[in-house]
Amino acid sequence: MKTIVYEVNPQQVDLAVMEKAADVLRQGGLVAFPTETVYGLGANGLDAAACKKIYEAKGRPSDNPLILHIASLSQLDQIVTEVPEMSKKLMDAFWPGPMTLILPKKDCVPLSVTGGLDTVGVRFPSHPVAQALIAAAALPIAAPSANVSGKPSPTKASHVLFDMDGKIDVIVDGGAADFGLESTIIDVTGPEAVILRPGAITLEMVETLLGKASVDPAVLGKGDEKAVPKAPGMKYTHYSPKAPVTLVRGGQEQVVEAINALAKEAKAQGKKVGVLATEETKDGYEADFVLSAGAREDQKTIGARLFAILRKLDYLGADLIYSEVFEESGEGLAIMNRLKKAAGYEVIEVK
Ligand code: TXA
Ligand code: MG
Repeated sequence: MKTIVYEVNPQQVDLAVMEKAADVLRQGGLVAFPTETVYGLGANGLDAAACKKIYEAKGRPSDNPLILHIASLSQLDQIVTEVPEMSKKLMDAFWPGPMTLILPKKDCVPLSVTGGLDTVGVRFPSHPVAQALIAAAALPIAAPSANVSGKPSPTKASHVLFDMDGKIDVIVDGGAADFGLESTIIDVTGPEAVILRPGAITLEMVETLLGKASVDPAVLGKGDEKAVPKAPGMKYTHYSPKAPVTLVRGGQEQVVEAINALAKEAKAQGKKVGVLATEETKDGYEADFVLSAGAREDQKTIGARLFAILRKLDYLGADLIYSEVFEESGEGLAIMNRLKKAAGYEVIEVK
């Protein structure tokens, strides 16, 4: 299959191009498109055969459900049986935007799309290209992140092309994703909102809005082996570049020193070392590739660059990757959730 790439300016979306891409979706094809979080790999969410192609292209386990993307609230009624009060508040506050809600599904949503669950994840993205594509297709669009399963999510069209060239029909290139981390997933089917995957809509924001909310314990770390994540996808290896990632935690200077010592050792063995650094530390490292995610207090920039840096260190040929760690509050909870998974929970503590 030849993969066609269409470039689209998000500030001035070319509707003729959107029509072409929407046509591919209506005919059961696959179209990757930008959202404000990461690029999605889209198919007609009500067409089980079309969605099966998503699983094939990504190499995704079939019990890992897809989320459906909508571009109007009337599309929501098409796919869910009920909209609990709590979810209405969340929608008012955070839609369109980087939030996915788990809601009870209607029969028209195939069980093969929800991994056999009677709930469905729904997201109303704010990205103008995503909105235009969904509106043009006039369908709920199933879209996981457009990466090969297990790899870092794509935040640029070039990442999608790298993973999906020849496997999908179309890539709509709308520039770099704004947030760079996948949406916050909130389960609103129970008495209290539960965050199943942290993202740019933070626990603090949800708590402020609803008075009470919690985070699925499985998100917080490996520790408790009994904590099975409620979002099926959160149990798989994730976000992993080819090179093994190790996190190093401790005081700023000690971390730089420790990573330099590790890099020196690796170099002696003929290995190339990549470091995910910060503005504060980047000049202190002696490694083959040092990439800054941003200033420590600038969580938005760190989130936006995280996956792109992991991919870049791969493309550059790093054999080992060391990364600094971040505060686990605000968007930092999402940043650390992705980093810990990328590292398979390998953390070195230095004093
Ligand atoms: O930002 C995003 O959410 C991106 C963009 C493209 O919208 N999409 C995305 O999809 O990250 P994906 O498939 O990579 O991650 C969706 C996560 C998976 O961990 C999946 O297990 C979980 O959502 N999920 C989907 N439906 C669910 C359900 N009914 N109950 C619990 N978890 C669900
Ligand atoms: Mg994903």
